[in-house]
Amino acid sequence: MHAAEIDAVKADALKEVDAAESAEQIESLRVKYLGRKGLVPGMMKSLKELAPAERGPAGKAANALKNELTDKLRQALENLQSAAPARQTPDFDASLPGDWPHLGAVHPVSRIIDEAVTIFNRLGFQVAEGPDVETPYNNFEALNTPAHHPSLDPVDTFWFESDSLLRTQTSPVQIRVMESRPPPISIVTPGRCYRRDTMDATHSANFHQIEGLHVSSGVSLADLKGVLAYFARELMGPDVNVRFRPHFFPFTEPSVECDFSCHVCAGAGCRVCKQSGWIEIAGAGMVDPRVFEKVGYDPEETTGYAFGMGIERLAMVKFGIPDIRMLYENDMRFLAQFA
Ligand code: DAH
Repeated sequence: MHAAEIDAVKADALKEVDAAESAEQIESLRVKYLGRKGLVPGMMKSLKELAPAERGPAGKAANALKNELTDKLRQALENLQSAAPARQTPDFDASLPGDWPHLGAVHPVSRIIDEAVTIFNRLGFQVAEGPDVETPYNNFEALNTPAHHPSLDPVDTFWFESDSLLRTQTSPVQIRVMESRPPPISIVTPGRCYRRDTMDATHSANFHQIEGLHVSSGVSLADLKGVLAYFARELMGPDVNVRFRPHFFPFTEPSVECDFSCHVCAGAGCRVCKQSGWIEIAGAGMVDPRVFEKVGYDPEETTGYAFGMGIERLAMVKFGIPDIRMLYENDMRFLAQFA
């Protein structure tokens, strides 16, 4: 192509760019002229076919075409982009409310765990965790629960053939922590537990507990009562009352059960508390010296208390949830109330 022809192509190309209305059109012009197989590279290649005297002017014209077109395309694209916001489609109404993203919420079980851990943290307890699959030793024997105890029955506990089991309580974490270090110890352990219970309004084969363990010297039942009473008030509000009843657990001596006054009827008696005014919340007691022996602590020197409570029970009492199954059904009509 001679220089004059090239100039004519340039004039056409620049006009075409002026007429382009979209980024797509601009891009296809770039490909048409400047792309690898486009007109301009083609021209460059064919320069050598020209007579020597014509090559110089044609080469200059081709370069000018390339440079001017490149600038023009870039400019056109910039113009288009800066103009874009002003180009509203006619059916866009900026005054309409937007689409709100769906916001999730913390599940009530997680919420109780978080709140309980925060409260016990303030009292100096640290979180310790253990595995869901436990040894019978940690879950029962080290907790002074003999092999003939009913809770070892396969009817009550999920056993694996390999002589391991799904922990029935968070108490085995006590053993793991005490075996790993000497006193003083102040831990809480939230986590899943498993029992072969048939599901009903208050039972689930998979549920959660939070366990507490405080071991030092000179610890008394009064310390345990103070800690659980403080926990009750922080979680349920200042008007809650607590009471302690004698009980039995293999790993504590003496053992107690701790009740909170019913927050629904303030202790007067209602359906939630089965007319008693009280709701059973925790098992607890002074750690049995035999447990200290098992973990290699000196039972003469060492004193401590432990407690364990059901997270679902706390959630049901605090939020007034009548059936434990509501916590597991993932029904948004229920869960959205906790957002
Ligand atoms: N592990 C007991 C249960 O699941 C609850 C419990 C009672 C935990 C007394 C304790 C305790 O730490 O001292 O029923």
